[in-house]
Amino acid sequence: MANETLTITDNRTGKVYELPIAHGTIHATDLRKIKVNDDDFGMMTYDPAFMNTASCKSTVTYIDGDKGILRYRGYPIEQLAEQSSYLEVTYLLLYGELPTAAQLQQWESEIKQHTYIHENVKKLMEGFRYDAHPMGMFISTVAALSTFYPEANKIFAPEVRQKQILRLIGKVPTIAAFSYRHIKGMPYVYPNNDLSFIQNFLNMMYSIGTPRYEVPAIFEKALNILFILHADHEQNCSTSAMRSVGSSHVDPYSATAAAAAALYGPLHGGANEAVLRMLDHIGTIDQVPAFIEKVKKGEGRLMGFGHRVYKNYDPRAKVIKKLADDVFKVTGVDPKLEIALELERIALSDEYFVKRKLYPNVDFYSGLIYKAMGFPTEFFPVLFAIPRTSGWITHWQEMILDEDQKIARPRQIYLGHDTRDYVDIAKRK
Ligand code: CMC
Repeated sequence: MANETLTITDNRTGKVYELPIAHGTIHATDLRKIKVNDDDFGMMTYDPAFMNTASCKSTVTYIDGDKGILRYRGYPIEQLAEQSSYLEVTYLLLYGELPTAAQLQQWESEIKQHTYIHENVKKLMEGFRYDAHPMGMFISTVAALSTFYPEANKIFAPEVRQKQILRLIGKVPTIAAFSYRHIKGMPYVYPNNDLSFIQNFLNMMYSIGTPRYEVPAIFEKALNILFILHADHEQNCSTSAMRSVGSSHVDPYSATAAAAAALYGPLHGGANEAVLRMLDHIGTIDQVPAFIEKVKKGEGRLMGFGHRVYKNYDPRAKVIKKLADDVFKVTGVDPKLEIALELERIALSDEYFVKRKLYPNVDFYSGLIYKAMGFPTEFFPVLFAIPRTSGWITHWQEMILDEDQKIARPRQIYLGHDTRDYVDIAKRK
């Protein structure tokens, strides 16, 4: 490779600096050498929302936003969605390789040993109001797990870390299902470890009395694919929260609760919920053009459209759109699908969206599938959080084992007052 350096001339001083380039980046702290005088702190970059800053090296997930490519550990998302299972993908994310048949069997059985939650966790969940948002319950309950497993703060002990990883993957479906049963006023259903991971989750959600709840095959298939698609997405808002909070060396339950809180917002994992509310608000297909005009005037956003990284069709949205057809063949077509298709048709040909490279993202169609499967709208972000937990802990582990990492501590450009004297309250205007 030719000279892998960057030459910078500081026109304030005329000085020239040569900075090494590695992996297409310069080290931000190298800029600190650029100073006008000895008292100068040195040059920084200003990058609100981390639009162009790599905060870590990672070997987990690769995205090419312009080409619409997503791979976990090198495997294309389309192949994993078609051929793999969610638990196999969790293994792949955490260990970097696909498991052998024996490794997968052992992994599934280990996770199953951690599906139950302490009875006091159940009691804690019972304390929420009848109309509590399930994502609020999920966040708080995951945080509370740290009080049940205080040893979890020994984050540099590999066997302790491994135990919490198993617990987190195993317990989040139970917490999610209990939060659903709570808002429905239904008795909690305990895990049944004779069932598969996905069947068990659906059983905890929907089983009531007799006859025994039989998980529809298409629901198991759909949820398996949706969980795979949502398992990881490199340095998104919630994963960055996981890394940032985890960099203080707090236990993984507290860090996961922080990540889940980041996911809750309508610009991130709350978007699938917001899409359904938007479709409800639009109401009928003839209202779509008027709604699009409002969005173009800046009166609200077209939820489920646009992405910080993808400037092309989100590859996950492609898989989900096809999956929606399969699910609707069994459940019947939701009239909102017509509205969604019309929104997509108009948006993809409208100059406003084309110019800004706004395409459907993972959340545009996922909500319609969740709805067809009987999940209430406010539960959608929780359905995102269950699989994303595996991505969060994969990144958390990668971060704490990375010698380059330290406690996350961004800098600021201070633009406030210079020093001034305290004014007695009686003298203030
Ligand atoms: N509807 C209308 N206009 C939009 C939208 C949208 N959904 N998204 C972006 N824009 C416009 C935005 O107004 C701006 O226009 P202008 O240049 O005239 O000011 C331009 O496109 C660039 O937008 P931005 O806000 O600078 O882009 P961003 O990279 O900061 O935001 C986003 C990414 C996902 C937050 C944003 O596209 C958005 O709010 N989308 C709707 C919410 C959503 O669907 N979120 C789910 C993301 S995928 C799942 C996940 O990872 O959580």
